[in-house]
Amino acid sequence: MLTPRVFISLIKVMKLMNKRFQSVAKLLSMVVIGVASSVHAAEVVNVYSARHYDTDLEVYKNFETSTGIKINLIEAASDTLIERIVNEGKYSPADLLITVDAGRLYRAEDRDIFAPAGSELLDQRVPAHLRHPDGLWYGLSKRARVIIYRKEDGEPEALNTYLDLAKPEFEGQICVRSSSNIYNISLLASLVSHLGEEAAEDWTKSVVANFFRKPQGNDTANIRAVASGECRVSIVNSYYIARLIDNDDADGSAVGIIFPNQDSTGTHVNISGGGLLKHAPNRDNAIKLLEYLTEADAQSLYVKGNHEYPIVGDAEVVGVLQNLGSFKEDTINASALGENQATAVQIFDRAGWY
Ligand SMILES: [Fe+2]
Repeated sequence: MLTPRVFISLIKVMKLMNKRFQSVAKLLSMVVIGVASSVHAAEVVNVYSARHYDTDLEVYKNFETSTGIKINLIEAASDTLIERIVNEGKYSPADLLITVDAGRLYRAEDRDIFAPAGSELLDQRVPAHLRHPDGLWYGLSKRARVIIYRKEDGEPEALNTYLDLAKPEFEGQICVRSSSNIYNISLLASLVSHLGEEAAEDWTKSVVANFFRKPQGNDTANIRAVASGECRVSIVNSYYIARLIDNDDADGSAVGIIFPNQDSTGTHVNISGGGLLKHAPNRDNAIKLLEYLTEADAQSLYVKGNHEYPIVGDAEVVGVLQNLGSFKEDTINASALGENQATAVQIFDRAGWY
């Protein structure tokens, strides 16, 4: 039976429960708001990168500090990352692909994974020949593909251009890495652009005839082969020489550098670069990162830390890289290197540069 006493007690219990319920509800709403705001605050950008340099980690850390945007980084070989992005399709978490060599950026472009960044700032900062005409990718740093010789033996006479490497006097004197390497593919692609396919093939055959040995090793191994006197000349990327010198490795200082084609088209340069991905979940942050990478601070870290040339004009070339000397660069559009990639590979095959 519901006596007045029991009734009053019941009311008290209900009031208490109601109070508790309100507290729980309040707490729950605070949690929900907290989660929602932390989701909002947890700004991220997901980067797939084929660059494996400590310098990049430093640059990314600086970006995180100055913007509060966290970078989630996945590193792998360029072709692996491109394949992964294609397979992930519209569910890909990747916002940005960063890789080395215009030839590889072209491969990514060819798989239709990029979207135009539409950044006026990037269009202003990155020279037109070092970015995609529609903003699908942008150069972030530069490297020169130079000819090297052993200083002790003196600079070879009449060796001023890539074409000079085809001269018969260099028979049995050239060491170089395989043609499967993108750096050589892009170099030959530039020659195809400048000279046409036929002349580029003649050059390739003559250079092959001058090989000291079958192509082998990476650029550093070929620097060492020249430094030791095994071969007289080689073709390598500039930053490998600077890196050896910076590490007080005697092989770096043992080789002299020729910046080819100074009286004509300029030395072949390639880029490392990045592009916004089509299904990027954090599009704005990806563009912010690309823009940050072209700022003076990031650019100078590329120079100091990785011995790459800056992509923007106002960044200073210092240290070892400065000591290598200045040069006139080939201003062929980096897109052309990709477009002539297949032709270059066929020429290498026909010429026997494997
Ligand atoms: Fe490299």
